[in-house]
Amino acid sequence: MNEEQKQAYIEEYKQEKEKGVKFYPDIIYKDLIVAFAIFLLLVGLAIYIGVAAEPPADPSDSSYIPRPEWYFLFLFQLLKYFPGQIEWVGTVIIPTIAVLALLLLPFYDRSPFRHWKKRKVATAIMSIVVIGMVALTILAAVTTPPQEEVALATTITEKIVLGQDTYSIHCVECHGAEGEGGEIVGVEGLEGVFLKSISSQDEMYTRSDDTFFAIIDYGQPDLGMPPYGLGYGGELSRGEIDAIVNFMRYTWDDRVEIPEEAAQAGAIPELGPDEIPSYEVHIEPIVKRYCVSCHRPGKKNNNYLMRSFQETMETGDNAPNAIPGDLNSNNILMINRQEIEAGGPMPPTRALKPEIIEIFERWVLGGAPETAEEAAALSPTEVPTAPTPEETPVSP
Ligand code: HEC
Ligand code: HEC
Repeated sequence: MNEEQKQAYIEEYKQEKEKGVKFYPDIIYKDLIVAFAIFLLLVGLAIYIGVAAEPPADPSDSSYIPRPEWYFLFLFQLLKYFPGQIEWVGTVIIPTIAVLALLLLPFYDRSPFRHWKKRKVATAIMSIVVIGMVALTILAAVTTPPQEEVALATTITEKIVLGQDTYSIHCVECHGAEGEGGEIVGVEGLEGVFLKSISSQDEMYTRSDDTFFAIIDYGQPDLGMPPYGLGYGGELSRGEIDAIVNFMRYTWDDRVEIPEEAAQAGAIPELGPDEIPSYEVHIEPIVKRYCVSCHRPGKKNNNYLMRSFQETMETGDNAPNAIPGDLNSNNILMINRQEIEAGGPMPPTRALKPEIIEIFERWVLGGAPETAEEAAALSPTEVPTAPTPEETPVSP
């Protein structure tokens, strides 16, 4: 700054001073008005718009991903680069340096000019800090996995269907597909234990939904019923347990009527007189309801898994268990309650209904097709679906 500039500046300063605007009370008064306006605005926003609340905290929900508010995300992201022992670098050292840099600004930026181009050091430091914060915030935002869907099922039909699927996987092995109970066979540790029915009207009339929920949530450990709630070491969320309770109530309690839609969704599709069943339409729902509970990993089952077409066809110590066209396949013999080399009758506790055994047999005999199209192509008479032009109908 040369002498001339200095004079001009002093002149300007004098003039401003002569105008006579005082910090107190003039400037303070202005500040107060603006501060009050902002205060009113915030109160208004809080009253009329508010903050969307997240669902109440659920100690048993381990899927929740906690994250700070967006304006703290950059600090949160910074922390990720300094794990364990060196955490203090990210939590103390770097933020302290940043704050010090601001505090000391008047001491290292001695330039009398106010234009940013003439204040290189200060501008550079400011830019680095701002760009760093923005970049860290963006990084934190994109690496945050989406919060898992809180509501698994909302309509009553969705709940019943989800409940049936969940019941099929977790409960059928002991309580049976219809909650009928009986002597447990084929379940490690409970072999021979006799279970009363949990689908009887007796049970339905004496147990409330809350009681069912509680029993499933923390089990009846001294009686052999394992806990299912995440909070008690199980693997079901509250939404899933609630869905099971709905399924039980709507399916088994004769005082409530199951919505038509839900009954349809849970039903095993009917078969036309000459139709060959397919895995995807007919067998999957049967297997899911009557077999997968035991025939999934971690259960006693001769390594025979039935969660997919591939597994059903190929796995098992005595594989193949379903041989297309062969009614002497292990599966068919066992659901007809024969004792063979591969093991006893299946499902071990109670025979499948004759109509379900028939579907299973017609599927194996018909060639065990996977998809509905394959089944239609194998069917002796045409199945009532409109053939597309490029499809050459297969005649018997
Ligand atoms: C490993 C076997 C096993 C599994 C799997 C199992 N339970 Fe149980 N459950 C039992 C035993 C044992 C009892 C206690 C004996 C009894 O009540 O007859 C019981 C009791 C119950 C009762 C209480 C009956 C009453 O009114 O006293 C309900 C309801 C029940 N289970 C529901 C379920 C549901 C729903 C599932 C699936 C999420 C399930 N159970 C999974 C073994 C099991
Ligand atoms: C309660 C549990 C349970 C249920 C439900 C169940 N299984 Fe099994 N399954 C077993 C056990 C245990 C074995 C091992 C052999 C034995 O102990 O009899 C087995 C073995 C088999 C095998 C022989 C596999 C091999 O390669 O050796 C076939 C086939 C089979 N099951 C089919 C079925 C079918 C089909 C269903 C459904 C309709 C079904 N199972 C339902 C427990 C179950």
